[in-house]
Amino acid sequence: MKTQEIKQLIKIRYGKCAEAGKATMTCCGASEAGTNSSFAAEHGLYSTAELSSVPEISRGLSRGCGNPTGFAGLQPGEVVVDFGCGAGIDVILAARKVTPGGKVIGVDFAPQMIERAQQAVSEAGLLDSVEFVVADLEQVTVPDGNADVVTSNCVINLCPDKGAVYSEIFRILKPGGRVAISDIVYEEKIDPRVRAHFEKTWSGCVGGSIDEESYFKVLDNAGFTEIEVVARHLLRETELEEMACCPGPEFAPGPDEADLQVVQGKVASIKFTATKPTINS
Ligand SMILES: C[S@@+](CC[C@H](N)C(=O)[O-])C[C@H]1O[C@@H](n2cnc3c(N)ncnc32)[C@H](O)[C@@H]1O
Repeated sequence: MKTQEIKQLIKIRYGKCAEAGKATMTCCGASEAGTNSSFAAEHGLYSTAELSSVPEISRGLSRGCGNPTGFAGLQPGEVVVDFGCGAGIDVILAARKVTPGGKVIGVDFAPQMIERAQQAVSEAGLLDSVEFVVADLEQVTVPDGNADVVTSNCVINLCPDKGAVYSEIFRILKPGGRVAISDIVYEEKIDPRVRAHFEKTWSGCVGGSIDEESYFKVLDNAGFTEIEVVARHLLRETELEEMACCPGPEFAPGPDEADLQVVQGKVASIKFTATKPTINS
C-alpha cells in the first residue's frame, strides 16, 4: 500500500470507531492499571483514580498503550501538544496538570475523534485550557518553538513516515522542550515476510511498528538527545491480539493466528522521554 492509502485507511477506521463511540475493547494503558497507583506509575500506566477522573467517552474510546502524562513531569503554565489525541484522554489529564496558565493542544486527523474529544473536554469543564487541531501529524499547524512538551500515546507506530513526524515534533518544541511518549515497537528484527503480513492490517498498532533500535535512530536523526526509556512492557497474548486489530475487530481485520504466534513475546509497549537540546548544548 502507498503511504497516502495507509493514512486514509487509518483515518477512516478510527473515524468509524469514534462515530460508534463505545467501548469495544480495552487498551493496554487502561487494562494493566489495576487498583494500585504505584504499580501504574512504575509501569507508565493509568491509575484507577486517573481513569475514573475522565469522562466516559474518552475512556471508552481510549486506544493507548501507556500514560504519557504520568511521566512527562508536567507543570502549571506549560504548553503541551498531544500527537494523535483520539478522544482526548491524555488531553484531559494533561490539562489538569498544566492549569493554571498552561494550555493543551490535541491534534488528530480523524475529525470524528476530535468531535468526541471536544465533547469530553466540555464535560470535564476544561474548554478554556484546551484547543484542537485536525491535521496530519507530519504537518501540524502549530508554530515553531511553541511547545514545552509533546505527548503521544500509541500513535507514531501507525505513521508510515516516522522521521517526518519526529521532525515536526522537533520543530514545534521550544529549545529544551521534551517528549513523553508511549508507543509499540518490536523488540528484535522480525522476518520481513511476517512484517509484510502485519502491514496489511496497518491500522492495528503492530502493522506499522518497527524495531526499537531503528525507532530510536529516528529520534536521534531528528535531533533529540537524552532518550530515556522509563518503562517497557512485553505484550501478552490477549494484548497483542487487541493491539493488532486496533481500533477494534469490527473496524479492522486482525492478522492470521500463525503470524501472531511468530511475533508473540517480541512486541512491546515502551514509554520514553527525550529532549530537544537548547541552542547552546
Ligand atoms: C491508537 S489511537 C490512540 C489515540 C489516543 N492517543 C489514545 O491514547 O486513546 C491512534 C490515533 O492517532 C490518530 N492518527 C493516526 N495517524 C495519524 C496521523 N498521521 N495524523 C494524525 N492523526 C493520526 C488516529 O486517528 C487515532 O485517533
